[in-house]
Amino acid sequence: MARRPFVVGNWKMNLGPGEADTLAIALKRALWDRQAVDVSVAPPYLSIPEVVNRLRATGIGVAAQNCHGQPAGAFTGEVSAPMVRAAGCTQVLIGHSERRQYFGETDESVNLKIRAALDADLEPIVCVGEALFVREAGKAVAVVEQQLEGALSGLGSEALERCTLAYEPVWAIGTGRTASPEQAEDMHRAIRTWLSGRFPKAAVGALRILYGGSVTPANAALLLAQPDIDGALVGGASLKIETFLPIVEAATTRS
Ligand code: PGA
Repeated sequence: MARRPFVVGNWKMNLGPGEADTLAIALKRALWDRQAVDVSVAPPYLSIPEVVNRLRATGIGVAAQNCHGQPAGAFTGEVSAPMVRAAGCTQVLIGHSERRQYFGETDESVNLKIRAALDADLEPIVCVGEALFVREAGKAVAVVEQQLEGALSGLGSEALERCTLAYEPVWAIGTGRTASPEQAEDMHRAIRTWLSGRFPKAAVGALRILYGGSVTPANAALLLAQPDIDGALVGGASLKIETFLPIVEAATTRS
């Protein structure tokens, strides 16, 4: 099944409103007529209004990096999914490994956030991935399956059809150490196989699974050439137009 390539830039805690607007201007100039690949960026919350405004009608999507699992309430410092939607985002990253590692997110909270995002008409980009010691113990697939089980618990195929998944091995994030195309493809295939046991074939066949973890212009083409790698979730290399654009090009060539 042909899946449209999807490249997402995760700016993490970088680029305040002014700098984000500057990068958005460059993205708009470079990508406004891009037809064959979906591109989104995930700025920090405070930069979302500038980026949404700048990228309006360009076809480039804007995602939040997180949202709360409840629609409103006494949760000081948090931002809800309806607020993210109202600010003009159409997507939201859920369960990024940095959220799991530093902010105590669990498979259970990830499940709540996916539901909150779907209720707010946002597309969740759900992140899974194993730590280095897990891979070295030969348990990478089992742990990712467990994360999927928790994240997708109780959700049906209509929900899955509205999600994107991202496989991001923790040991490859921000380390310069990328999974080899074979390692990444093996995991993406394992994820699709696991999903096939639980969801209808059409929904699983249409689902996009992105790879993330030290994706650069140098390794993007080989990763994106793998049949089950449908795009990239890019951190560091998404902060500069010179490094982000070649990754989008590599995805375009794949399509
Ligand atoms: P990286 O980050 O490309 O800097 O490794 C990827 C991510 O965390 O989404």
